[in-house]
Amino acid sequence: MEITGRTALVGIFGDPVAHTFSPAMHNAAFDALGLDWRYVAFHVAPAGLADAMAGVRALGLRGINVTVPHKEAVLPHLDDVDEPARRIRAVNTVIHRNGKLKGTNTDGAGFVRSLKEEGFPFKGRRVCVLGAGGAARAVCFSLLEEGVAFLRVVNRTKAKARILSEDLNRFCNRTEAAGRVETLGDFDLLVNTTSLGLHADDPLPLDASLLRRELTVCDLIYNPVQSRLLAEAEAAGARAINGLGMLLWQGVLAFEHWTGREAPVESMRDALGRVMGKMP
Ligand code: ATR
Repeated sequence: MEITGRTALVGIFGDPVAHTFSPAMHNAAFDALGLDWRYVAFHVAPAGLADAMAGVRALGLRGINVTVPHKEAVLPHLDDVDEPARRIRAVNTVIHRNGKLKGTNTDGAGFVRSLKEEGFPFKGRRVCVLGAGGAARAVCFSLLEEGVAFLRVVNRTKAKARILSEDLNRFCNRTEAAGRVETLGDFDLLVNTTSLGLHADDPLPLDASLLRRELTVCDLIYNPVQSRLLAEAEAAGARAINGLGMLLWQGVLAFEHWTGREAPVESMRDALGRVMGKMP
């Protein structure tokens, strides 16, 4: 697509940001719908975030995604933050409309959509979430909204798991905190939101002998496509799902917020497949 005098611009602010797959996914969507829009990655250091947000207003960007390390830091620069993002205390999508910047968070809803697509039923299920950072917060609130029966938050720093579990219990009293995984006996779903598994020599986030064939195991990591945890889950006969679906669906939801159009999901999925295929 040509850049014209009317091209609408969206993008992503992150540090680092060069590894992002989002431009490929969104630009494929704009092409598929023939929209005169482009999506660009901006390397924004923490010290530059205020100026970058002023730039969104001054230059009339239609919206942005914000990623590490800006998801919380962006909050004071917005005019409005919707309820899900307020609960999570983090924003991944900013919508610029009528001169106002509104923050939302599509990570949790994206996670839920990706598992629904895999046919996972949430209602009444028991879930163990590893990690208590920003990604865990987004995932946990959405799991409770979907009606899971019980949620255990497990984090190396147990105090952080306790803080998250207290927040979650104020929303819906079905959560407890733990410092390590003792058993997965009663659980239906295990979700890894920690960064353990990004590197080939990372240890597993739990003892692999706890994995059972009745489990669905979801790792938010998508690069590598199959983390060690997912490989162990498959070896145990469990269902293994990586984070590509969540990446796709959080993008689909952001796209729809910005453009008001139904996202061409399959074009976005194909674009992600193409960039993944080019990874070493
Ligand atoms: P994100 O936004 O991706 O959730 P984050 O907020 O920095 O990132 O959270 C990272 C999560 O991964 C935390 O739960 C962190 O555990 P701590 O709270 O104990 O730091 C977890 N994590 C990171 N490295 C880990 C490791 N080596 N072992 C276990 N957990 C780890």
